[in-house]
Amino acid sequence: MTRRIDIVEVGPRDGLQNDPGNLSTAQKLEFISRLEEAGVRRMESGSFVSPKAVPKMADSADVFMGLDRSKPTRHIALALNEKGVRRAIDAKADEINFVLVAGEAFGKRNQGMSPSESGDMLAQCAPLVLEAGIPLSATISVAFGDPYDGDVDPAVVGNLAARAQRAGVNELALGDTIGVATPWQVRALTERVRMEAPDVYLRMHFHDTRGAALANVAAAIDEGVDVIDASCGGIGGCPFAPAATGNVATEDVVYMLERGGFETGLDLSKLIDTAKWLETVLGHPVSSSLSRAGGFPS
Ligand code: COA
Ligand code: ZN
Repeated sequence: MTRRIDIVEVGPRDGLQNDPGNLSTAQKLEFISRLEEAGVRRMESGSFVSPKAVPKMADSADVFMGLDRSKPTRHIALALNEKGVRRAIDAKADEINFVLVAGEAFGKRNQGMSPSESGDMLAQCAPLVLEAGIPLSATISVAFGDPYDGDVDPAVVGNLAARAQRAGVNELALGDTIGVATPWQVRALTERVRMEAPDVYLRMHFHDTRGAALANVAAAIDEGVDVIDASCGGIGGCPFAPAATGNVATEDVVYMLERGGFETGLDLSKLIDTAKWLETVLGHPVSSSLSRAGGFPS
């Protein structure tokens, strides 16, 4: 039987939050609708954070209001504090993804929290989400390395994973926010997190800053992970991480997996068309390999 890998499209959130291009709310909705046409069924469609911290996500409530809810897509809202969680619930998010942080220095800059304070904040916010009947997932950001502090202790990641499980998180992503992970580190951390939080479903979130993202995806899949975050065109990055670059590109992941005999449910040529459309609206080239080279065989 063909193994299915589910891709969570994060372009409309992680992708756009740090891109130099500016999309109007209507253009964001067109991006989302093109992604749905390409088969995306789960997508981070915005974040409910301080508009001063991330101005490009200031219109997320309008984006959620403009979504075509007749389509089967689950729209995920990102939040990292109680105000954000409440705004995401008001926006009728289909799922809320909470951000935990594994690095002290990055945590202070990104969200004004230490790792353990982000765990406290999750414990405070989780009941609100669960009472609203909304599935709760989480991402541990900088799980593989902090741009300011360097290496991150896997015990911190394991502890946050255990706290996420206790809080009622049903799916947890290990986030390589600054693209420093290697396939061997992915294997080791996956095993560690599985020991500490055995009931939580695992997802992976890789950035391609240092060229290892596809290798990391392959390693995670060999470890049995079957949910991967990716952004169309490979756009994006984190405004609070120096030299951050985009997520692993959706079309590159789809190409690699489908050639490898996996099923993703996504249409490669529509993804490539969307990446090319993005270049026109963002006003610069995108970084994905497939948007340059095309699929094979054609
Ligand atoms: N949505 C909208 N506004 C928010 C907010 C939210 N979720 N959380 C806080 N704010 C507002 C407050 O109302 C306050 O506004 P005011 O200055 O007009 O009174 C202001 O932001 C500061 O609030 P405070 O609680 O003191 O937060 P802070 O200055 O310590 O910043 C965060 C903490 C979490 C709000 C901020 O760092 C943030 O939003 N970071 C987002 C980072 C991010 O999205 N990174 C990428 C994804 S991981
Ligand atoms: Zn990211």
